[in-house]
Amino acid sequence: MINVKTSNELLKMRKAGIITGGALVKAGEVIHEGMSTYELDRIIHDYIVSHGAKPSFLHYNGYPASACISVNDTVIHGIPSKSEKLKKGDIVSVDVGAYIDGYHGDSAKTFAVGEISDKAQALMDSTEGSLKAALEILRPGIRIGDISALIQQYNEDRGYSVVRQFVGHGVGRNLHEDPEVPNYGRAGHGPRLVAGMVIAIEPMINEGVPDVKILPDGWTVRTADGKLSAHFEHTAAITPDGCMIMTMPE
Ligand code: MF3
Ligand code: CO
Repeated sequence: MINVKTSNELLKMRKAGIITGGALVKAGEVIHEGMSTYELDRIIHDYIVSHGAKPSFLHYNGYPASACISVNDTVIHGIPSKSEKLKKGDIVSVDVGAYIDGYHGDSAKTFAVGEISDKAQALMDSTEGSLKAALEILRPGIRIGDISALIQQYNEDRGYSVVRQFVGHGVGRNLHEDPEVPNYGRAGHGPRLVAGMVIAIEPMINEGVPDVKILPDGWTVRTADGKLSAHFEHTAAITPDGCMIMTMPE
């Protein structure tokens, strides 16, 4: 069942989204060479808590941190660690969620540490570009498959591959609600959007093969071939004439 939110609920979701987006702005400000992913997670944690919210991911299905921090060939769900230090040339996907007044925000962004290679930048640009293009077509009447097909085509046209094992999702009182929002699929298929639905669109795009492996820790998702991966995500509400990006920072 896809929940349709009232305007009052959307106001609360915007509040959660502003804190979520703000946490990513903070992450971008503090990220630097030599920093551990644990330190970055603490800063994100403190930002969320100091704004009166709770980190959505902390203890979710036993997840042990506030942010997912995924470096280079880690696609998603990288667990912050004191021993993992960021290096010049790394690309770092930071995924955060904030929960306040009964609602979640969910957003992710891939950052560069210092100067990065042209090919890493191009992968990030394609992933982010596909998210922006998807947000531009959001309006009542389109179908989930229209979003999926756009993201797949956008990235495959540029020579990249789409991760299939993980998908975007509805967001609301729960971090993960219906519908699933795959980053691959066929236009004209899937549920139709109506105003008040809220979805997280989150392309996870690989430089090489689409296949991934999950490490024995049960969380960390890496590319099967060790090549780079990027991840961008926004939570967006469908409005009568388009969408409102709930996790856009103020
Ligand atoms: N943004 C991720 C998602 O949408 C969330 C993290 S999973 C968690 O699935 F378990 F770490 F919370
Ligand atoms: Co998500």
